[in-house]
Amino acid sequence: MRARIVTVAQQKGGAGKTTLLVQLATAAASTGRRVAVVDIDPQASLTGWMRIRTHEARTVPALRFAMVGGWRLGVELDRLAPEVDLVLIDTPPHAESEAKGAIRRADLVLVPCQPSPADIWASRATFELAAKERRPARLVWTRMPARGRVVEEARAAVGREGWPTAVAELGNRQVYVASFARGLGVVEAEPKGAAAGEVRALLEELSPLL
Ligand SMILES: Nc1ncnc2c1ncn2[C@@H]1O[C@H](COP(=O)(O)OP(=O)(O)OP(=O)(O)O)[C@@H](O)[C@H]1O
Ligand SMILES: [Mg+2]
Repeated sequence: MRARIVTVAQQKGGAGKTTLLVQLATAAASTGRRVAVVDIDPQASLTGWMRIRTHEARTVPALRFAMVGGWRLGVELDRLAPEVDLVLIDTPPHAESEAKGAIRRADLVLVPCQPSPADIWASRATFELAAKERRPARLVWTRMPARGRVVEEARAAVGREGWPTAVAELGNRQVYVASFARGLGVVEAEPKGAAAGEVRALLEELSPLL
């Protein structure tokens, strides 16, 4: 079977794209899937995470990696796809044309969204791009507090938009930041923790689409 391609996209800066990507990549790799991660964001956060990860190389599964300009993405995907089961692409914020190319190649588009009006407004552009390219997309709540008025309002706003939304959510947890700083995912840094449970639940929920 050819590799499944997941593009993580969201115009809003700092929404949680790179964090979501490394979590899913490491969780998938921990189940034995062959995973590649591709950075098309010139900020190169994913590239930085991969660089730190090399220090942990003896204890964690290897991930294939490429950093490419958006214009070279197609060539890179053609190269990687036969060698892995899953490719995850991290995209830059504020860059519709780059996101468009990555969405066009995706089997699934993930749109991380924090429970804030600005994140929700920015999500629209990505859902529109995905619809135009006829690609399935899922909103993934991230940095989600357990409860509160802000959360309820955010859920209601997304419900009104009708965007398909993953049931599994990532909470607002320091372990996401701390594990990133070590080049790890939470399933590796704290496999028994609540965050690892969230990430595994999300991967499992998305599996039928992959
Ligand atoms: N679930 C979470 N809980 C706590 N902190 C988080 C969570 N997700 C992301 N963060 C933190 O929020 C910040 C932004 O996250 P991240 O870099 O993943 O966003 P991004 O969308 O990739 O940003 P950019 O648009 O700049 O590429 C980082 O400091 C990250 O550690
Ligand atoms: Mg990023």
